[in-house]
Amino acid sequence: MSQQGSLIGRIALVTGSGSGIGKAVAERFAIEGARVIIADRDATAARETAERIGDSARAVVMDIADEQSVVDAFAELTAADLAPNVVVANAGVQLFGSDAPIADLELDTWRRTIDVNLTGTFLTVKHAVRSMLTTGGGSIILTGSPTGINGEGRDFTAYSSSKAGIHGLGRAVAAAYAEQNIRVNTVVPGYTETPLVTAISSDREARAAITSRIPLGRPGTPADVCGAMVFLAGDDAAFATGALFTVDGGMTTL
Ligand SMILES: NC(=O)c1ccc[n+]([C@@H]2O[C@H](COP(=O)([O-])OP(=O)(O)OC[C@H]3O[C@@H](n4cnc5c(N)ncnc54)[C@H](O)[C@@H]3O)[C@@H](O)[C@H]2O)c1
Repeated sequence: MSQQGSLIGRIALVTGSGSGIGKAVAERFAIEGARVIIADRDATAARETAERIGDSARAVVMDIADEQSVVDAFAELTAADLAPNVVVANAGVQLFGSDAPIADLELDTWRRTIDVNLTGTFLTVKHAVRSMLTTGGGSIILTGSPTGINGEGRDFTAYSSSKAGIHGLGRAVAAAYAEQNIRVNTVVPGYTETPLVTAISSDREARAAITSRIPLGRPGTPADVCGAMVFLAGDDAAFATGALFTVDGGMTTL
């Protein structure tokens, strides 16, 4: 059955929607009838995504690792009568080439990863919750990773730690604010070919190796992640909170 129009009336802010998964999710949310806020630290990318979507999109420059930037973005939206009732905390980084097994991991790489992925998600969710407490609630969706669940993260100490932290953050916030009508869930995309993972997708051997560990036998695409996001954003997920939703081709079953 078509879910066309399942997000009519929603105002959905998607961080990191200048690229990859966030961009696909914002585009799909707009197709489903939502007003979408394209939030990214890359102003050009945010503007381009918003222009592709058209009138139902608005670009906002927001660096999730900088609390003032997050505060300013929510204030700008509230002033424009666009306080979001859906927030997808999706922006993240993975520092291929410098993330490493712990004996070789520089503190700077650890900090740059944690600052964006975990602290940035914390700041996004903190201010989303504050806003939703004044507007009657909403749905918050975090973006986790298989590396926060099982052994995929051997070479990604900082990234895996940041994503496991996000999974814990989602459970804690879901439990704390359920009574205030705020649902919080985490989508766990598997290996999904976006600019983030060019280091793997452009390396034939690395791509074949990771694909061999995906039971459904292929890499994911940003479009693969959209259905779970639409479901969690909308009323069909009214009784879902505090959960992890893997969209990984079965990778975490192995
Ligand atoms: N691609 C994968 O295989 C995969 C797998 C699991 C999880 N994820 C997660 O999905 C999310 C999206 O990843 P993607 O693959 O689409 O990456 P991407 O690199 O294509 O897009 C990430 C976007 O986030 C933005 N961004 C980065 N730091 C930011 C900051 N401090 N403030 C605001 N925006 C910022 C970037 O400008 C970019 O537009 C990330 O959290 C990533 O960890 C990706």
